[in-house]
Amino acid sequence: MTERFFASCPRGLEGELARELDALGASGVVAAEGGVGFAGELTLACRANLESRIASRVLWRVGAAAYRDERDLHAAARAIDWPRLFRPDRTLRVDVAATRSPLGSLGFATLTIKDAVCDRFRDERGVRPSIDKREPDVRVHAHLTEREATFYLDTSGEALFKRGWRRSREIAPLRENLAAGLLALAKWTPDEPLLDPMCGSGTIAIEAALIAARRAPGLTRSFGFQKLAWYDGPTWQRIRQAARDRIVEAPAGGASIFASDASAAAVERTHANLAAAEVAPFVEVARADVLDRAAPAPAGVLLANPPYGVRVDEADRLAALYPRLGDALKSRFAGWRVCLFTGDLRLPRLIGLKPERRTPLWNGALECRLYAFRIVAGPMRVRGSGG
Ligand SMILES: C[S@@+](CC[C@H](N)C(=O)[O-])C[C@H]1O[C@@H](n2cnc3c(N)ncnc32)[C@H](O)[C@@H]1O
Repeated sequence: MTERFFASCPRGLEGELARELDALGASGVVAAEGGVGFAGELTLACRANLESRIASRVLWRVGAAAYRDERDLHAAARAIDWPRLFRPDRTLRVDVAATRSPLGSLGFATLTIKDAVCDRFRDERGVRPSIDKREPDVRVHAHLTEREATFYLDTSGEALFKRGWRRSREIAPLRENLAAGLLALAKWTPDEPLLDPMCGSGTIAIEAALIAARRAPGLTRSFGFQKLAWYDGPTWQRIRQAARDRIVEAPAGGASIFASDASAAAVERTHANLAAAEVAPFVEVARADVLDRAAPAPAGVLLANPPYGVRVDEADRLAALYPRLGDALKSRFAGWRVCLFTGDLRLPRLIGLKPERRTPLWNGALECRLYAFRIVAGPMRVRGSGG
């Protein structure tokens, strides 16, 4: 039977996520702000969770109704046959998001929906699921617009950027699905070299290596749908095995993904994360300053997330680093496509290169840009501008 789903993603990556879902065989793929609607069988949701590199969550649409006030909302949520969807011994969490909802309090709307779900269980089964906000088995999401409430069950559980390989708590790593989205926007493919010369914990290189290894990002984790009534263990094992059978253990012609960082601790973390993600043979890691490291040959894609700061002293320090970074790129990276992801909109002006593309993206609440430059040999005309 065909079901409707909504896959959320970092804002700015909707087009790339739509392409991914298309390739997975989804139908009715429609990009919206912050995600993509699509249709397919329930097993498609399992595969999207396992295989999507860009989605944050995959939500299964279980009902919708017009509403005007809390009473309508309660009735709409109470009308859904929750006991058919999950067992009452599963713990529950409800989340509500709203755009132009007439309701005064989203907190109260959340309580209303939670009560309606629990009332339905109590009336039919004589028991109510208990609430667990931290590690719920089942997550109900409601999206309220001006007139309509749509209800979803979350098939992902923990957000999908948590692949399961990150070993330590790190300072400001990129989210894994954002890194995968940057690789898609940079149009990198595994048949060309990739370099992240400011790799931090290695997120970009590891996501690239997962692509090169044809390794599904969710192979080592569990998902929310495993707690839903329709979950069928043997079918899921078959889907996972099919994904495992595609894995390439090592690159045919040696590593063509390169990661480096000036910090020894970052290099160590990158090694540990690569080993945990089981893709170490795909990436060559080195300790090097981007200002004087050599470019690998042949030319390929340089994709990095340079340091950026909001404090004045940090901003000043970066204003000194960026022009030197621009010089290093111009003198040693002729022929490369360089993509820099940053929240610092002064970057093109400060590095003295004119971007051929600038893609707005959001890193959580922070508005950022992916600036794409093509480095050509010889003196470059500098026409930098902000934004
Ligand atoms: C914003 S972090 C990158 C985070 C990374 N994308 C991740 O997901 O973990 C910027 C990195 O640039 C490194 N860095 C700063 N200046 C550098 C330089 N001159 N050469 C090389 N690396 C540098 C820092 O050590 C830091 O790890």
